[in-house]
Amino acid sequence: MPGDSIGKMFKVCVWGESHGPSIGVVIEGCPPGFELDLDGIRKELNRRKPGSSAYVSSRLEQDQFKILSGLYRGETTGTPISILIPNQGFNKSSYDELENTYRPGHADYTYQAKYGIRDFYGGGRSSARLTAPVVAAGSIARQILHREYGVTILAYITQIGRIQSGIDGPGHRAQSNCNFSDESKEREILTLLEGLKASGNSIGGVVECMISNVPPGFGEPLFDKLDADLASAIVGLNAVKGFEIGNGFNAAELTGKENNDEFLVEQGETQTVTNRSGGVLGGISNGMPIVFRAAFKATPSISMAQSTVDNSGNKKEIVIVGDHDVCVAIRAVPVVEALAAIVLCDHFLRYRGQCGVK
Ligand SMILES: Cc1cc2nc3c(=O)[nH]c(=O)nc-3n(C[C@H](O)[C@H](O)[C@H](O)COP(=O)(O)O)c2cc1C
Repeated sequence: MPGDSIGKMFKVCVWGESHGPSIGVVIEGCPPGFELDLDGIRKELNRRKPGSSAYVSSRLEQDQFKILSGLYRGETTGTPISILIPNQGFNKSSYDELENTYRPGHADYTYQAKYGIRDFYGGGRSSARLTAPVVAAGSIARQILHREYGVTILAYITQIGRIQSGIDGPGHRAQSNCNFSDESKEREILTLLEGLKASGNSIGGVVECMISNVPPGFGEPLFDKLDADLASAIVGLNAVKGFEIGNGFNAAELTGKENNDEFLVEQGETQTVTNRSGGVLGGISNGMPIVFRAAFKATPSISMAQSTVDNSGNKKEIVIVGDHDVCVAIRAVPVVEALAAIVLCDHFLRYRGQCGVK
């Protein structure tokens, strides 16, 4: 099926279904002789895993991964790296009702309309379970970028429902129960999430991602712009409904004088005084931090009664049971980081291929 892969030189192909025997990823183009930090991959998978707090799905996924190829004595060989993650801890019976019924807001109807057949257990191929192999591949990309340039990638939540962070940057994220950046709003958010969970409802949110130490030069003109590729990867993630970089939609309100980032030279490096462009100009990184935001819709699977139809066009009422996230943005934080790493690693290799190492 087209659409399973991302990247040109660091190419990541994700396979599997939510409730099948396993899911996995094949990574082509990883540079040889790179010592992989397997604990680093494990750590990233643990950040994405459900069950980490009361506000995310409690499905008991172990996410024990196996590397099947592309590694010799701990180092990459330059050949495809295949990673397998067995599926565990799911309960198929909670999906029995859904074989012929379309969940509002989910992918059931469109998969059925397109393919005429679908693995409906856990949402099958449309499930966010497939973000686990993305995170494993992203961890490798992140390790390469960090070794080459000291790149750091940090995502955090800046909004849940109408509650917005009042601070810039990751702030309180590391201590937060919900990856939220602003400690002063944490209690309000947790109360909101608890209330939604109790009533069987869900809520949307915004994830911001800040990438530091990317040198100038990553990205191609026209159709493979760095910001275009980031947007494509991030909007490709389940439940993402909006993407903006730098000033994003606010840029439409500003004059040129208000929006331009003026240049200066600081310790021999060309920089900009402000960073309204979000670190990308003309589709190419300019050496400033890359800052983008992704808007996530509310989790579609809610246990409140909703009207729907079945495969035969009969009207039905649906009440969805099973383990679901109250706010998918919370668990999407490491996935956003992983996708950003994959896109940047691809552009790093493309940059090196065309321009050499500077
Ligand atoms: C990390 C993450 C976790 C998610 N968890 C759930 C979930 O528990 N239940 C659910 O119905 N949708 C969940 N989703 C969202 C659905 O996968 C998504 O809304 C669905 O596939 C339809 O695709 P679309 O929203 O991109 O159109 C999650 C998404 C992400 C990114």
